[in-house]
Parts: sequence; C-alpha cells; structure tokens
Amino acid sequence: MSGHRRIVITGFMGSGKTTLAQALAERLNFSGLDLDQIITERERRSPGEIIEEDGEAAFRDLETHALSTVMQSGFAFVLALGGGAWALERNRKLIREQNALTIWLDVPFELCWQRIAAAGNRRPLASDQQTALNLYKLRWPLYRLAEFHLRADAEDSADDLVAEINQSILNQAF
Ligand code: S3P
Repeated sequence: MSGHRRIVITGFMGSGKTTLAQALAERLNFSGLDLDQIITERERRSPGEIIEEDGEAAFRDLETHALSTVMQSGFAFVLALGGGAWALERNRKLIREQNALTIWLDVPFELCWQRIAAAGNRRPLASDQQTALNLYKLRWPLYRLAEFHLRADAEDSADDLVAEINQSILNQAF
C-alpha cells in the first residue's frame, strides 16, 4: 500500500514526530528512524549538548551529514526529523531528491511548549516560552512546504494519526 516511497515527518519540537514515525513505521512494516537519535549515537552527545558545546552551526552540519547518509540508504523507513532540519533548504533538497513523502505534523504551539517544558527542557533553542514561540512563528511558513499537512491536537493518539495518514495521505501519495 505504501509503495517504496520513504516517509519523512517534520514539525516543531514537542509535536510528537518520533512517536508518530515509530507508530507509522510499525504499521507499514518500515524501519522507524529518528534523526536526533542517529546523531546522538554517532556523536555520543545529544543535539542539545552539541548545540551548547559547539554551537548551532556545528550541529546543523552534523544533522545534514546524518540526513544525507540516511537518505542515500536503500531501505524503507519512516524518519522523524529534528524540528530545525526541515528549515534548511539544503536538507529539503536532500529529501526531495530522493522523492520521499513529507508530512508536517502541525501541533498548536501551546501543546508543543507544554511537552517541551514537561520533558525538563533540554532544547537550547527553546530556552524559554517566548524564544520558542518566535521560532515556531519563523518556521511555520517553512513547515508548510511539506507535501502533506497533518493537524493534530492533544486528543489525537499516534494510532489515530496513523489511521488518518492511511486514509487521507497514503491513498493519494502512492
Ligand atoms: C531542534 C529540535 C530538536 C533537536 C535540536 C534542534 C530545533 O529536535 O534537533 O535541539 O532546531 O528545532 P526535536 O524537534 O526532536 O525536539
């Protein structure tokens, strides 16, 4: 049903990209991948630690490198990006070149912020609510460039979202 197009999930920090990618991957029998986790395993430091210690630009280079490696691999996956990866044209190009299907998981800022704060805020680019809101607004027009737009709220479980993707996205996309 899903053909061979790989799937990339983008959206703001705290939108639930990783959980959705895992649930969708299970459903499709694809591998569920998380770009931040791949970077963490390679670097033995989290994105937050890398940004704090080496700066954002250094992290973005590692991120693009990791994305490029994943996109060039031949296997079927659902990949959750970090919230800023999609904001860079060079990353969008890597994804486009491989004809991956892109889904923007669009969650209201308040819910993203609740989750960021509840996780003990280990995200240096969202150090306080106003900083996070500014970034959310800045990125909104870029997330809109994704091929599909999936709105989600606190009531939507990952299973609900997978069902919605199945019904309204995968039917059109393949
Ligand atoms: C970032 C989001 C984080 C992580 C890094 C930078 C961003 O990922 O990649 O802290 O720029 O939005 P999550 O979206 O998984 O929190």
